Amino acid sequence: MTDQSRPPTGDDLLAEIERLRKERNAVILAHYYQKPEIQDLADFVGDSLQLSQMAAETDADVIAFCGVKFMADTAKILSPEKIVVLPDMDAGCSLEDSCPPEKFKAFREAHPDHIALTYINCSTEVKALSDVIVTSSSAETILEQIPEDQPIIFGPDRHLGGYLNRKFNRDMLLWPGVCIVHEAFSETELLKLKAQHPGAPIAAHPECPPAIVDHADYVGSTSGILQFAETFPGDTLIVATEPHIIHQMEKALPEKNFIGAPGADGNCNCNICPYMALNTLEKLYTALRDLTPQIEIEEGLRMKAKQSLDRMLEMASGTIGKGDLGKI
Ligand code: 13P
Ligand code: SF4
Repeated sequence: MTDQSRPPTGDDLLAEIERLRKERNAVILAHYYQKPEIQDLADFVGDSLQLSQMAAETDADVIAFCGVKFMADTAKILSPEKIVVLPDMDAGCSLEDSCPPEKFKAFREAHPDHIALTYINCSTEVKALSDVIVTSSSAETILEQIPEDQPIIFGPDRHLGGYLNRKFNRDMLLWPGVCIVHEAFSETELLKLKAQHPGAPIAAHPECPPAIVDHADYVGSTSGILQFAETFPGDTLIVATEPHIIHQMEKALPEKNFIGAPGADGNCNCNICPYMALNTLEKLYTALRDLTPQIEIEEGLRMKAKQSLDRMLEMASGTIGKGDLGKI
């Protein structure tokens, strides 16, 4: 008799994931910050916006979400009839943790004339308290559709919010959350690395603090950084975001050199997201086999959170024009 609780190993593990994927009619979605072996077997690898769009559109019966919990929650909000499994339910996010719904509610109530533009890296409850959700790849397009005289609160990432304020000359009130991964880059070490590779451009995620973003030649989401990696002049790129994204760059452009920006110890390993890293092939296998841990969201809460996510999906594709935001 086989041991049902223990996953197989090596090629058997990959073959069993493949068998379960077909048997369950499952789609495996993975974020660019997942381990290479997970990215390589996923049906789709993408940024937060692309993964939400895939979750909304898929006709699979099961979504195996290899990312963090707010991403799997988003998949369930958009596709409630599907079974959504997350290989490790403890895969959270420091930005979500920084923004408890009751405190966010009080913040909103203290600013009744403001709309809440909220980064997708937050809980379902905070999405339900928000007007429009943004991801880092959709934030600029969406902000440009909001009238300049409309007061806005932006949470939970103060670095992304601050970057948008500076770039678009806005005055959004910022929630004080940060991503612990992007916060760990060191300006001093980055400048030392840059001195060793003087011609190499720097690509940074807007979750980085201004001290890092200010040195960047390109600032954008994970998918934006990947596009920049395909087109930058030269042969070396310094990458200031979670280093597992480099796997995609090395696959697409093996002749080029991609270097992860360093943390304070001069080593980029401290910038590995500890939450994303909780997902493993073994846990993906058991999630597909047992259909657990599964995302469940109370229907009333889901419907409220879906409104702000639907606005994001509409506005990200530019279907709502300037001025329409007055209806929020
Ligand atoms: P994007 O993939 O949308 O750029 O998000 C980055 C991130 O930190 C996800 O947690
Ligand atoms: Fe959250 Fe940062 Fe990890 Fe993304 S990289 S999941 S923002 S802690």
